[in-house]
Amino acid sequence: MSNLSETRGIVMLILEHTEPSSCLHWIAVSQGRYEQAEEGCVMEGDGLSQQQWLRQRLLLASLALGSLLLLVASVGTLDRLQLICPIKVRMPPAGVSWETPLHTFQHKHTHRLKLHRTNSTRQKLLLIKQLPRAIIIGVRKGGTRALLEMLSLHPDVVKASQEVHFFDNDQNYARGIDWYREKMPFSFPHQITIEKSPAYFITEEVPERIFKMNSSIKLLVIVREPTTRAVSDYTQVLEGKERKNKMYDKFEELVIDSNTSQVNTKYKAVRTSIYTKYLEHWLKFFPVEQFHVVDGDRLIIDPLPELKLVEHFLNLPSWISQYNLYFNATRGFFCLRYNFIFNKCLAGSKGRIHPGVDPSVKEKLQRFFHPFNQKFYQITGRTFNWPRGFQ
Ligand code: A3P
Repeated sequence: MSNLSETRGIVMLILEHTEPSSCLHWIAVSQGRYEQAEEGCVMEGDGLSQQQWLRQRLLLASLALGSLLLLVASVGTLDRLQLICPIKVRMPPAGVSWETPLHTFQHKHTHRLKLHRTNSTRQKLLLIKQLPRAIIIGVRKGGTRALLEMLSLHPDVVKASQEVHFFDNDQNYARGIDWYREKMPFSFPHQITIEKSPAYFITEEVPERIFKMNSSIKLLVIVREPTTRAVSDYTQVLEGKERKNKMYDKFEELVIDSNTSQVNTKYKAVRTSIYTKYLEHWLKFFPVEQFHVVDGDRLIIDPLPELKLVEHFLNLPSWISQYNLYFNATRGFFCLRYNFIFNKCLAGSKGRIHPGVDPSVKEKLQRFFHPFNQKFYQITGRTFNWPRGFQ
């Protein structure tokens, strides 16, 4: 009658439901020894039955509820959970008629799914790991995470959750393309895998390496007003130092060379904001049509139009809607709604409060970036008017 599970070192509760009586056995398995607590077992019709039977039902119900909550919680932490086959937007492959809706979910632990197409045809579609067909190459603190997460709302997009750093890290690159592919999530063949590693944009070797992998890959660059981006970059590093109880210079001390009183171009946060310098290097390998520039400042305040432009650039059917994005006043940012159950905001490390910057330093920086910005608009064909109202 009892199922005994021998798991050393683990304490388990095994509940067993038997007929005709509702009998609950509590068996504690500890260090290989079994102990049976009989008081949990109630036979129908005995003196105690009514109350204890009720208690058991309650216990069973709460266990079921607990399991359900656990399931919901674990599913909620998945990178995404949504119907991946929105029939209305997906074209069937040539020569195949899809008559039956494909009620299937993507699950990051699922290795293969069977899809029933018609009564007569039963075919299997395998989930596979695909190399990215689009990469968010940067820019650091431009809103790369928000862009990746928001794009992954689209059923035809699958994202690599972690930054892979394959092309910018020599050690990783030496591991080869199969290692890289292995880092990708499972996807269906028609889906686009996207990864983001913001360091790609500023690392010299990366364009050539990506070109060798796929010369027609689509490249996404998300930028913010250069001075704001530099402050954001500084804030991230500052927070890291503070976490380790380390001292760090003030922003003003880092961005201005104390000897010359000029902008310190040796400071990485300044250099990274000279977008045109890096873009010109990328253009030695890829034509400008393979790049799409996302306005990171607009993605913060009004993400949908930016996402629609990206959908178009990636030749994706229009899918992401205002329903998928809602403003969370507590966070002060837009958050993501996958469906009526699942939604999420980005982690607290996104959207830090920036330290105040001396206005004269800020203006010096803005003047410094101005000519580079002009060139950037010229190359990309997208004008941002950074900073707003600046002459
Ligand atoms: P701040 O922390 O300076 O505000 P990245 O992901 O490239 O590191 O970029 C981080 C920036 O993304 C944040 O910079 C934040 O402003 C921006 N961002 C854009 N949309 C966001 C969103 N919906 N939630 C949180 N941060 C968002």
